[in-house]
Amino acid sequence: MKWVADAVRQTQWLGKAWRFYERVASTQDEAKAWVQRGAPHGALVVADAQTQGRGRWGRSWFSPPQTNLYLTVAVRLPSHHPPLGTLSLLVGVAVAEALRRRFAVPAEVKWANDVVVGGKKLAGVLVERFTAWALIGLGLNVNLPPDAFPEELKMTATSVQAVSGKPVDRSEALAAILVGLEAWWDRWARDDIDPLWSAFAALDFLRGKEVQVVLPDGSTVKGSADGVASDGALRLRLTDGTVRLFVAGDVTVRLTAICPAAP
Ligand code: BTN
Repeated sequence: MKWVADAVRQTQWLGKAWRFYERVASTQDEAKAWVQRGAPHGALVVADAQTQGRGRWGRSWFSPPQTNLYLTVAVRLPSHHPPLGTLSLLVGVAVAEALRRRFAVPAEVKWANDVVVGGKKLAGVLVERFTAWALIGLGLNVNLPPDAFPEELKMTATSVQAVSGKPVDRSEALAAILVGLEAWWDRWARDDIDPLWSAFAALDFLRGKEVQVVLPDGSTVKGSADGVASDGALRLRLTDGTVRLFVAGDVTVRLTAICPAAP
């Protein structure tokens, strides 16, 4: 597929081995099967559409054809590497930076796995570990018009086209993301993690906001978001001033009512 070939021409090593599918259940599963059969480090799987695209916590990922990016990159983990929880933050930073650089889209990163614009989700990241490999999945809404989202996503999701006001080239989006991800991976894999913290802080959508964390067991905790810890956990400052760390959870921003002062 020419648009994928054009994109991977711009990288040093990431995606030099690639496979494209018109339609696949999930690029994560294809990448895993390829690893089992001997995929090289940096192997890339791209699909035009997915029938069982998945997100975190067993959610599905809306994956219609001819409009978005659905990809998985298979990377071999070095024997010493930073905590795996930092990897999805790193991918979010790489994607947000690429969209800013290439399309002037004001993308931000929302812990733990989202890229957002104005709080609406533009992209989701799914990192799955398989033996000594990480399967880095990315779904990016590229040219989906706002009215093409299913009803339940209309209020919470957006696309690059909806934000920038014009269709964008999927190949250019893919190239910008792969080039950025390659550079960030090279730092991460040699344990050079400090640059990630400043980049993340500059793009951190939640920082300082009053939020609610929904934990995997369904319980909730409220507080103000206070960046991330060195393992990628969310720091939540509670009302008593203490900080609690969360390695998993879904975060929503709390709307605080503004009451006019009494006369
Ligand atoms: C999330 O927001 O929960 C993560 C969504 C990740 C979706 C991508 S699309 C490409 C890859 N294949 C999948 O089945 N999922 C990821």
